[in-house]
Amino acid sequence: MLPGYDPVRADTASDRLLGACPTVADGPVSSIPVTGPTDLPLPETAHAPRTVTPRGPLTVAVVGGGQLARMMAPAAGELGVGLRVLVEDPASSAAQVVTDAPVGAASGEGAIRDLIAPSDGRPAATVLTFEHEHVPNALLTDLIAHGTPVRPGPHALVQAQDKIAMRRRLTELGVPCPRWAPLPTDPAAGRAALADFLAASTGGEAVVKTSRGGYDGKGVRVVSGPDDVADWFDAVAAGGPALLVEEKVPFTRELAALVARRPSGEVRTWPVVESIQRDGVCAEVIAPAPDLDPATDARAREIAVAVAEGLDVTGVLAVELFETRGADGSPQVWVNELAMRPHNSGHWTIDGAVTSQFEQHLRAVLDLPLGDTAARAPWTVMANVLGSHLEALTDALPELMARFPEARVNLYGKGIRPGRKLGHVNVSGDDLAEVRRRAVEAAALLRGDEVSTSSTIEEHA
Ligand SMILES: Nc1ncnc2c1ncn2[C@@H]1O[C@H](COP(=O)(O)OP(=O)(O)O)[C@@H](O)[C@H]1O
Ligand SMILES: [Mg+2]
Repeated sequence: MLPGYDPVRADTASDRLLGACPTVADGPVSSIPVTGPTDLPLPETAHAPRTVTPRGPLTVAVVGGGQLARMMAPAAGELGVGLRVLVEDPASSAAQVVTDAPVGAASGEGAIRDLIAPSDGRPAATVLTFEHEHVPNALLTDLIAHGTPVRPGPHALVQAQDKIAMRRRLTELGVPCPRWAPLPTDPAAGRAALADFLAASTGGEAVVKTSRGGYDGKGVRVVSGPDDVADWFDAVAAGGPALLVEEKVPFTRELAALVARRPSGEVRTWPVVESIQRDGVCAEVIAPAPDLDPATDARAREIAVAVAEGLDVTGVLAVELFETRGADGSPQVWVNELAMRPHNSGHWTIDGAVTSQFEQHLRAVLDLPLGDTAARAPWTVMANVLGSHLEALTDALPELMARFPEARVNLYGKGIRPGRKLGHVNVSGDDLAEVRRRAVEAAALLRGDEVSTSSTIEEHA
């Protein structure tokens, strides 16, 4: 059994999924509130005792100095909450805007201990949280044992760190997942297992993934034979992360369900979004997902809540989903993967929802009441800026601001590299086609691409 794993809560979550709502085709059967407090008794876990928000100054310590930590800063400032971020580099994205940003490695025990400790008259951190999952779990367990709340806790985080652990646990919970199998680490046995899996796969293709360390499509490969991942088998033999194989899901589109959960049990979900990937990287998010039938929206939120509760996640949890069509044309959803932190699929909430995912994450890890997740506009589209030909992204601002005055620009202060996530643009409005075009064109300007001058202010005034 995993440390902190709670069979009582896990059974509850799986009962809900398996018993109450086997498939979307059965219709909207949700008796589970998708927002608001749950009415379930929430048992204590061995590693996350129920706590009340302490009185006095609040400080959230965050491991990781990328754009996700940076985007927590405005929310922390507004709420009067101190933010202390462990950054890898003094020039990192978060260090440019957070004044309390000690430099150290996320894998370094001393750096994390120093991050939460009182020093120079500043108080100890109220809670420790993360902007990425690559953190040492044994240390986190020790910190909890010595009284520092760690949210999400290591017993939950492991399911976002390791795709094999995640698939195992989701399968136990009865959450709909693609057919999958772990591949043995012995190279001959691994190749044989992959060949067997492929033999049983339609189209003779499958998706092989590294269990740890992958992001933005790195660590995901479509294969038609073991030779397609010969280098990965070699890496496993040399002590690299184990591999798993999944059926290649014939999805009609990718969705994401975002939920926040606080230690005392309250959960809230945002509207389910469509996420559009290019070359394995999120390029656009449309909120809400167009033409999403209410039963699928409810089903996706229900899955997100069941995962958050079943895995005892605290903070924001993103559940990446595939939408497929059943034989009768009815939509079905399958879980791709989990992220236990604010996520790219939730950047639209900064401008498009009453409460952003970044503020909600702070509220959730501090065990404060969660904010309203309703959309502020019929549509919000987020377009990522992936790489740029410009010398400085700000060079695009004069033209962008003149042509798209409604666009909400968010640049991360990162060095320009091909394909790198450098920022995003949110546009909200009533007309989806127009909102999407304007978000995409504004992001294209930041990439340094030529954008036709049809979108003048006059034309859209
Ligand atoms: N089983 C699958 N079937 C079809 N496409 C997949 C499958 N798994 C992943 N993909 C595609 O690859 C992308 C990246 O995979 P994912 O597991 O989410 O890795 P990452 O950790 O890099 O985000 C997904 O968003 C999806 O487009
Ligand atoms: Mg993904």
